[in-house]
Amino acid sequence: MWLILFLFLVIVPLEARAEYDTIDEIAQAYAVETCGECHDKIHGEWLASAHAHSVANSVGILRTFIEERLQNGKEVDRSQLMRCMECHAPHLAHASESLIREVVRLVLAAAGGRDETAREEAKRSLDRLNINCIVCHNIVAILEKDLHGPPEQEVYYGPAGKASPAHGTERTTALGSYLFCGQCHRVHTPPDGEIIFCSSLYESYQDAYRGQGGAETCQDCHIRKGQRGHRMPGGSDPDLLREGIDLAVEAVGVKLQPGKWVPTAFVNVHLTNKAGHRTPDG
Ligand code: HEC
Ligand code: HEC
Ligand code: HEC
Ligand code: HEC
Ligand code: HEC
Repeated sequence: MWLILFLFLVIVPLEARAEYDTIDEIAQAYAVETCGECHDKIHGEWLASAHAHSVANSVGILRTFIEERLQNGKEVDRSQLMRCMECHAPHLAHASESLIREVVRLVLAAAGGRDETAREEAKRSLDRLNINCIVCHNIVAILEKDLHGPPEQEVYYGPAGKASPAHGTERTTALGSYLFCGQCHRVHTPPDGEIIFCSSLYESYQDAYRGQGGAETCQDCHIRKGQRGHRMPGGSDPDLLREGIDLAVEAVGVKLQPGKWVPTAFVNVHLTNKAGHRTPDG
C-alpha cells in the first residue's frame, strides 16, 4: 500500500510535469529533424518560414522587454517570460526556472554586447526554440482544452488523421480553422490586464473581413492558394503582396492659371486592400 501511495505521490506528479533544465534537453524533446525523413517537402517549407525563427528573429524587442522589467526591480521568471513565449515558443512553459534564466541570459547576449561571435552563438542557441511541427500539431492543436483535455504525447493532430507507422495521429478540424492561427496572431492580455501587442490581425480579420462577408480562412490564403504550404509567407513575399493589394494610378495633366500654361500633373493613386485583414500589421 505504502509503495503504491509513494509511486502515486512522487512518480505521477513528476510524469505530469516534465521540466527541462537545459536548451539541449528541451530542443531534443521537441526535435523535428526526424519528421523531415518522411515529410520532407513540408519540413523544407517550414525551415523557410518565419515560424522557424520565432525567437531568434525577435531578440531585439525581447531584450527591451527584459531590461524594462529588470529596471523596475522585477525578476524575469517563467510567468514574465511566458508573456512573450506563450506565442513565440509555447513549449517553454515546461522549462525549469533555471532554463528560463538561461534563455534570458542568451537573449541579452544575442541582442547586445560588442563581441559579434558571442552574439551569433547566443542567437544560434535561441534558434533551437521555435514554432515547429510539434508546437502546431500537438501543443496548440486542441482549441478547447477545457472540453477536450490536453493533447496526448507523441500524437500528431492533423486535418485527415491518416494512420502513420511512426507516430500516433488524430484527426482534428482545429488546424483548418482561423481560430487556430488566431491563438497567436492577436493582442495578448495576461490576467493582470497588461496589453501585449505584436499583432492584431486576428481582430482585424474578424471585424473588417469576416464581418463584411469575407469567406476565406487564413489557411486558404496563406497555405492552400498557390501551394504556399508550410512556408506560410507574409508581407515580404512579392507574390502574396501583389495578390493582396490592387494598385491603380492615373495621371492627368492640367493648366493651372487661365491663359497661362503652368505644367502641372495630378496623380491619383488608388490602393485597394484585398487581404483578409488590415495591412500592414504590427
Ligand atoms: C499573442 C501572441 C504573442 C505574444 C504574447 C507575443 N507575440 Fe511577438 N509576435 C506575435 C506574432 C503573431 C508576430 C508576427 C506578427 C506579424 O508579422 O504580423 C510577432 C512578432 C514579433 C516581433 C517581430 C519579429 C520579426 O521577425 O521582425 C517581435 C520582435 C516580437 N514579436 C516580440 C515580442 C515580445 C518582446 C513579446 C513579449 C513582450 C511578444 N512578442 C509577445 C505574437 C505574439
Ligand atoms: C504554424 C503551425 C504549423 C507548423 C509549424 C507546422 N504545421 Fe503542419 N499543418 C498546419 C496546418 C494549419 C495544417 C492544415 C493545412 C490545411 O488545412 O490546408 C497542416 C497540415 C499538415 C499535414 C497534413 C496535410 C499535408 O499537407 O500533408 C502534415 C503531414 C503536416 N502538417 C506536417 C507538419 C510537419 C512535419 C511540420 C514540421 C516540419 C509541420 N507540419 C509544421 C500547421 C502547422
Ligand atoms: C517514418 C516516417 C514518418 C516520420 C518520421 C514522421 N511521420 Fe508523420 N506521418 C507519416 C505517415 C506515413 C503519415 C500518414 C499520412 C501520409 O501518408 O502522409 C503521417 C501523418 C502525419 C500527420 C497527420 C496528417 C493527417 O493525415 O492529418 C501529422 C500531423 C504528422 N504526420 C506529423 C509528423 C511530425 C510532427 C513528425 C515528427 C515529430 C512526423 N510526422 C514524423 C510518416 C512519418
Ligand atoms: C504558436 C503561435 C502561432 C501560431 C499557432 C501561428 N503563428 Fe504565425 N507567427 C507566429 C509568430 C510568433 C510569428 C513571428 C515570427 C517572426 O517573425 O519571428 C509568426 C509569423 C507568421 C507569418 C509571417 C509574418 C511576416 O511578417 O512575414 C505568417 C504569414 C503567419 N505567421 C501566418 C500564420 C498562419 C496562417 C497560421 C495558422 C495556420 C499561424 N501563423 C499560426 C505565431 C504563430
Ligand atoms: C483573403 C486572403 C487572406 C486571408 C483570409 C488572410 N490573409 Fe493574411 N495576408 C494576405 C495578404 C495578401 C497579405 C500580404 C499583404 C499584407 O502584408 O497585409 C497577408 C499578410 C499577412 C501577414 C503578414 C503581415 C505583415 O505586415 O507583414 C500575416 C502575419 C498574416 N497575413 C496572417 C494572417 C492570419 C493569422 C489570418 C487569419 C486570421 C490571415 N492572415 C487571413 C491575405 C490573407
